[in-house]
Amino acid sequence: MSKKRVGEYESRIQELLGQMTLEEKVGQLRQCGPSLVGAFDVSFEELLDMMFDGRISEEEFGRLMSTAERDFREEDLRAGRIGSYNGVGDAETANRLQRIAVEETRLGIPLLFGYDVVHGFRTVTPIPLAESCAWEPELWERTARMAAEEASAAGVHMTFAPMVDVAKDARWGRISEGAGEDTLLNAAYGAAKVRGFQGGDLAWEDSLVACVKHFAAYGAVEAGRDYNRVDMSPLRLWEDYLPSYQACVAAGAMAVMPAFNDINGVPCSVNRDLLTDILRGQWGFEGMTVSDANAIAECVDHGIAQDRAEAAALAIHAGMDMDMTSDVYAEELVDLVSSGKVDAADLDRAVADVLRVKFACGLFDDPYKTSPEREAEMILRPEYRELAREAAVKSIVLLKNEDGILPLAGDTKVALAGDLAFSCDEMMGPWAVGGIGSDCVSLEEGLKFAGISLVDTEDCDVIIAAVGETKDMSGEAASRADISIPEEQICMLEDLLETGKPVIAVVFGGRPLAMPWVAEHVPAVVEAWFPGVEAGNALADILFGEVNPSAKLTATFPYATGQCPLYYAHTNTGRPGGKGKFTSKYLDTPLGPLYPFGYGLSYTTFAYSDPKAVTRKKDVTFSVTVTNTGSCEGDEIVQCYFRQHTGARVRPVKQLAAFEKIRLSPGEERRVGFTIPYEQMSYYDSAGNIMPPYGTFTFFAGGSSVDCVEDTVEVML
Ligand code: GLC
Repeated sequence: MSKKRVGEYESRIQELLGQMTLEEKVGQLRQCGPSLVGAFDVSFEELLDMMFDGRISEEEFGRLMSTAERDFREEDLRAGRIGSYNGVGDAETANRLQRIAVEETRLGIPLLFGYDVVHGFRTVTPIPLAESCAWEPELWERTARMAAEEASAAGVHMTFAPMVDVAKDARWGRISEGAGEDTLLNAAYGAAKVRGFQGGDLAWEDSLVACVKHFAAYGAVEAGRDYNRVDMSPLRLWEDYLPSYQACVAAGAMAVMPAFNDINGVPCSVNRDLLTDILRGQWGFEGMTVSDANAIAECVDHGIAQDRAEAAALAIHAGMDMDMTSDVYAEELVDLVSSGKVDAADLDRAVADVLRVKFACGLFDDPYKTSPEREAEMILRPEYRELAREAAVKSIVLLKNEDGILPLAGDTKVALAGDLAFSCDEMMGPWAVGGIGSDCVSLEEGLKFAGISLVDTEDCDVIIAAVGETKDMSGEAASRADISIPEEQICMLEDLLETGKPVIAVVFGGRPLAMPWVAEHVPAVVEAWFPGVEAGNALADILFGEVNPSAKLTATFPYATGQCPLYYAHTNTGRPGGKGKFTSKYLDTPLGPLYPFGYGLSYTTFAYSDPKAVTRKKDVTFSVTVTNTGSCEGDEIVQCYFRQHTGARVRPVKQLAAFEKIRLSPGEERRVGFTIPYEQMSYYDSAGNIMPPYGTFTFFAGGSSVDCVEDTVEVML
């Protein structure tokens, strides 16, 4: 969003503000979710909880959502007391509500419709942690563009995505929603998603406002337990966690969602340093902030506000514009401003932010940006399925392939095992709000569509065993204190191995799993994550060699849960190495990862040689030769890392500096070069001063964070 474009609305915003009553201003800051009446007489959120904790089935939930009268509080809407909805996912309902806002309220201010389009809308693509393993910003942008075309056709204006919470602890269920443990990768992923969602202009009918979340550092919750506290040095916050959100703001994101957690004792929802000083003051953000669900009200539970009125006052002053479904603003702000307890300027600023986004979306000029006809035309288009399949094959990671058992020949007779192999619904993952399970191709169906002969274990050549997590075992409110493969699945694998037939494990899940037994005993292991609507077809493509796997892990797999948080960019400590008694290690578990960051196999092999690092005017150019030493064409994600050996603070033993995906034919070699800007290697000292990089640096290149070639260079001040 260009500065000029944003500026052109200011006069219209100020004019409108001058016409608005206090109640109408507060109404613009209220986002409602579709609540349900009649059926259970509970709110939409409570019904979701009832589904998630198993009190009602997903089918029951779906039936209720489709049949029960959903209460959109139309009378409040007519009175100008609602500015936005979350969760309206069809054009007809959106237009019906929009017509009330535009034609039946005093000022006709259009509604803004938000929705969780996290990895696809109806065409569900692989979960973000999976898609991040493609290491391909161009792909990430294309799938976001597709999601925007589809969701906007259904009446959505804003998506609560991308989620770019750097996550180094696999116990946290929401690691599934972002681009893993690395700062640079989350930044690249988020910026690409913002470009894809927002398109060239938010006023286009097929653009979505990107609402980057969860600001900030939600992935650092203590003990990996969702909604828990976050406490860290400002230096670490700035070096590891803030850059991914900053990259999204720099890419033009016009919305930001503060996180549920506190940072060093101040909940993000009422954190003025974060929402005003950093986000607007330092980063120049000109869009709107929207709370997470009920988050403003929860500041009372946090213990930072004594009641809802104080929560409202703290939030609006901190820079929180819109209240998602807690109704704290709706209930408290009019009195707070009338009594002078809240500065009217804070209210006007928040309303102006919301109006600015609505103007940028062109809603004042064309409030009905879609129609049921356009929706029907855009949903689940064949080309969308093709893109979903491309994203899935680029996300599936080959972790083990003993004796080249994979790829399988097309006439291989296969026995399938494990419930996940036969499920469509589970392929969607935990945040496919707009998805329908029956749209997904199961592993079983994918093999059948590929013409594979499915037989029983007695008659088969190989056994494909689906193991791992169901989709509700990760995502929000799904932290696990034990991230190992369920015991009954290990027993199943033992029985299958006893048949003497080769076994291939296909692992589904929303997080790295602690699976040392699988890694040791099963000859071939494929990490499938949750691949989305084209799951079965993509897995068939990989398992039978239609596509050569190229994906690389963006989150570390531990041997044991007890190693969490476990990540590649760790510091050396004063007693490194894990050998000898008095070194930093565990008595009962290996020190390193089961599968490291950046790791993933191919059906071919690649070799790295002739690494060369050269400093040029303080920047460093690092190049390496990559050769396809195998027998088939393949894509290789060339990763470049660096290490500053000595600094004003201890530095990580490796930091990802750049990456590039290349395709090589058998025997082909290519020189790959990276230029690392001086600024990128800077860091903060303990006083928060930016420290220029200098001294001895080692640069690494490889197909993972552990198998690298390296060269060392002196960087001068
Ligand atoms: C949830 C999530 C957030 C999501 C929001 C709206 O609680 O924390 O990521 O966007 O509610 O559905």
